[in-house]
Amino acid sequence: MDFDRIHYGADYNPEHWPEDVWDEDVKLMAEAGVTLVSVGIFSWAQVEPRPGEFDFGWFDQVMDKLAAGGVSACLSTMTASPPPWLSHRHPEILPVRADGTRLSPGARQQFCPSSLVFREHAARLVEQVATRYAGHPALALWHVGNEYGCHIRACYCDESAADFRRWLKDRYGDIDALNRAWTTTFWSQRYDDWAEILPPRVAPTFPNPAQQLDFHRFSSDASLGSFLAEQEVLRRITPDVPLTTNFVGLVQKALDWNRWVPHEDVVSLDSYPDPYDPRSHVEVALAYDLVRSLKDGQSWMLLEQAPSAVNWRNRNSPKPPGAMRLGSWQAVAQGADAILFFQWRQSRGGAEKFHSAMVPHGGPETRGYRDVRSLGQELAALPRLAGTRVRADVALLHDWESWWGLELDSHPSGDLQQLDAHLAHYAPLFDAGITCDVVHPARDLSSYKLVVVPNLYLMGEAVAANLRAYVAAGGHLLVSFFSGIVDACDRAYLGGYPAPLRDLLGLRIDEFWPLPEDGETGLRFADGSQAAGTIWSEWIELEGAEAVADFEGGELDGRAAITRHTFGKGVAWYLGSRPDAAGMRALMDRVAADAGARPVLPGLPDGVQAIVRHGDGESFLFLLNHGTGEVTVPLPASAADLLTAPATPVDHITLGPRGVAVVSVD
Ligand code: GAL
Repeated sequence: MDFDRIHYGADYNPEHWPEDVWDEDVKLMAEAGVTLVSVGIFSWAQVEPRPGEFDFGWFDQVMDKLAAGGVSACLSTMTASPPPWLSHRHPEILPVRADGTRLSPGARQQFCPSSLVFREHAARLVEQVATRYAGHPALALWHVGNEYGCHIRACYCDESAADFRRWLKDRYGDIDALNRAWTTTFWSQRYDDWAEILPPRVAPTFPNPAQQLDFHRFSSDASLGSFLAEQEVLRRITPDVPLTTNFVGLVQKALDWNRWVPHEDVVSLDSYPDPYDPRSHVEVALAYDLVRSLKDGQSWMLLEQAPSAVNWRNRNSPKPPGAMRLGSWQAVAQGADAILFFQWRQSRGGAEKFHSAMVPHGGPETRGYRDVRSLGQELAALPRLAGTRVRADVALLHDWESWWGLELDSHPSGDLQQLDAHLAHYAPLFDAGITCDVVHPARDLSSYKLVVVPNLYLMGEAVAANLRAYVAAGGHLLVSFFSGIVDACDRAYLGGYPAPLRDLLGLRIDEFWPLPEDGETGLRFADGSQAAGTIWSEWIELEGAEAVADFEGGELDGRAAITRHTFGKGVAWYLGSRPDAAGMRALMDRVAADAGARPVLPGLPDGVQAIVRHGDGESFLFLLNHGTGEVTVPLPASAADLLTAPATPVDHITLGPRGVAVVSVD
């Protein structure tokens, strides 16, 4: 993908409209600065109205008009919603829930990820699409499927069961190894034959946790298999055309993105923050840092966001003036080189008619269209931003397998959820203006000054060794509770929690002491300051670490709650409870300062995000005011805001409500 500028555009669904609208579309696209559209995502039933009968004539016209208008196509493989004739002839492709309910057609994504019939029909269509449009001047990028795992996170049908057994045979080789991995001595679950194994369908009580964990892994791989079946066709026919598939944001955990990314040329994400939530930009920031880190900071694409309201929450607020622009610049600031919306023109009918679009029902004479047009002009004016890179001193560790493991049933506390844990640790860094990568725990961490582990319940020995080596060499590490508890088969490590990290942290957990619903415990720091601990407490025995804070009150009164341990040339902090937001911020400021991880700018006003994209000769400081009041930000050196381009450089920038500035810095 050629990122010689920040691309701008939307999902484009021309089949919703008569042909004469297509000309107006391309004209308005040019006016709005649109350079790239995702086209054909839901076109299968239109291009293959009957099995094996293809009608691409209308789509040729669309592609030709786009090319003539200077708009590139992120061309879809068109397989996201199989046509009714396919499930009518082959009802076995329809996905089945854990309770045995087979889902009906009539919405979208109605296919079992393991279905060979689906894959065969999809591959036949992709072959047609790729052959027909290979070399077309509009074709810039392939868009494979759409949001895999969005509606169908897993399928429990018989074909999936057979595929699961195949996957398990590959993983374990023989049935005894599987029995050991799944601890099937428990509750008389020993398997004598592969044929006895099923997906974890609804059972009388908790299904085997290792089976559930493997089913998560398998389900992600089954969707990946479906993606690869299409990807292989594209690679064969158009080896030089890059491809992507759009990940659903961190709202769900179906896919292990790390296993997908090696098969994509560019990573892309869909993002739908809730305008009612004044802190939604923080959650979004976490997802952007994660998606950027997946390919070591390469350009990524925001492939979908809403220009204003969505239609799928219970109550759907429009984005207030300035919010769409601010959210778009936030993605650019965090490394995106493409900003696209769902969708170009608001649908008249269908389930998404109340979802906003670049061209609303009211047409171009609307606030919505005027705002997207002016953002398009702004982005077009700064092509030199494209290809510059974000650098971070801090990494937050994220692993899908551990996320799946953490949120299994029958744990000490159901209150401990991965995204809450991430946000509790990420938000204080974000608020302090400290740039963060979000990376896999097995990767080389040596470039980071501080590594934060909000939770890694599941931790292989290799990851523990990685963390140990990182700290021994001088790194600073912060680990929160219930990390390093089980191995890859969800079996507890023996010898005192968290056994793989005990020497590194200099402590041993004797027993978990989760707090009651909405319960709190006191935390008293050595300097006399106090905070409330939430979610969790635990009985810690110190084995070399010093207590930074003790529990105050309750059964654990006076025992260590937060600790610091020197290990090799580095330092390992441990949190046996989650301080409230103010306590977490104070602690994180101290830990970051200790590690030498500095904010992008000191003394940032509340609500202002600051981040730098580094280029070869020129770097850019982005200032984003997520608040609704005016703020003034002092600049490190006099400079001009590239968006408003004042005649003389200034030494501070005043940002209005939801204001944005981009400043060139050395
Ligand atoms: C996405 C999806 C789009 C559209 C959008 C609406 O999940 O990929 O096709 O449905 O949501 O917000």
